[in-house]
Amino acid sequence: MKKSIIKGTGKFLPPHIVTNDDLKEIMDTSDEWIRQRTGIHQRHWITEEDACGSSDLGTEAAKMALEAAGWAPEDLDFIIFATLSPDIMFPGGGCLLARNLGLNSTPALDIRQQCTGFLYGMATADAYIKSGLANKVLVVGAEVHSSGLDKSTRGRDVTVIFGDGAAAVCVEASDTEENVGLIASALHADGNYADSLMTELPASNLFKRMPEGVSLDDPRYFPVMDGPTIFKKAVRMLPQVTQEVLKKAGMDIGEIDLVIPHQANKRINQAFGQFLKLPEDKVFHNIQKYGNTTAASIPLALHEAIEEGRTGKPGDVVLFVGLGAGLTWGASVYKFA
Ligand code: UT7
Repeated sequence: MKKSIIKGTGKFLPPHIVTNDDLKEIMDTSDEWIRQRTGIHQRHWITEEDACGSSDLGTEAAKMALEAAGWAPEDLDFIIFATLSPDIMFPGGGCLLARNLGLNSTPALDIRQQCTGFLYGMATADAYIKSGLANKVLVVGAEVHSSGLDKSTRGRDVTVIFGDGAAAVCVEASDTEENVGLIASALHADGNYADSLMTELPASNLFKRMPEGVSLDDPRYFPVMDGPTIFKKAVRMLPQVTQEVLKKAGMDIGEIDLVIPHQANKRINQAFGQFLKLPEDKVFHNIQKYGNTTAASIPLALHEAIEEGRTGKPGDVVLFVGLGAGLTWGASVYKFA
């Protein structure tokens, strides 16, 4: 049976770093609060000078992943682009990214899925590969949050956690009987919690997408989050979906060499590790450097875990897991070939 094997990874961060102390200059917050409540020390944000879209950040990450895989853009037969912050309303960022790569006919699929964009993207790539529809797939997660955040004290609970960034993986079909590649995925969504984390405007479900009489400073134009509800959901659902995916994979938690979770809040991932009785060094964190980069967060963590030698050797098994807006949540088990 065909297996989905990661052949290369890449990342790209806009160069400008915003520290917690920088945020203190524009809103009522503190380095101490942000570090203690989230584990974040800094994040990367685009500036007025290098303003660009998530597809542009994704393109740079994709180029790095393609080079690592030894592929030319023309080798790709499918592109999956995950973001909650598309460059423009439409067309989708996947088309823009393909254009940036010099392509003019490669199919490109946009998916939303927010923090679980990479999990849904990998599961989709795997389905395309296993069904024979594609052999070389590019999965990209990319976000430009900073241009849409409420940078006043009113938005501080959300704004301090989000960062801009992108990451990409090249996934290839391999004909092997070995139990390698993407071994299992478990995905979920519950739209009943859509209001817990959302940006409401502009809204196509209104007679006027940008309603008359509503100021552009209205909170509905910015992401709003019921943080405590999402936090509690994450602490409950992440271990649950982990058990589900391990069962599908026919593995137990002891066989996981490294957990690469979505980087939403370091406390969520520490609670997850404690619940599953994992040694601290088995859960990867890079939230301190980047904040929450949503669809980019898991592949960005994967890229750095490989770079740091924490995983990537043949036989190493990693667990990807995350929860975010939607709500969507999921997990997957991947074994390096
Ligand atoms: O990736 C998408 C999925 N998202 C998540 O997984 C996020 C999950 N939620 C969280 O990570 C946390 O809920 C937050 C980090 C967002 C907030 O932390 P919290 O411990 O849940 O804080 P809270 O919202 O309960 O607020 C506690 C206090 C409040 O003040 P009062 O009412 O107690 O006086 C907030 O106004 O902290 C205040 N606060 C802040 N203070 C300084 C909220 N944000 C800030 C801030 N700086 N940035």
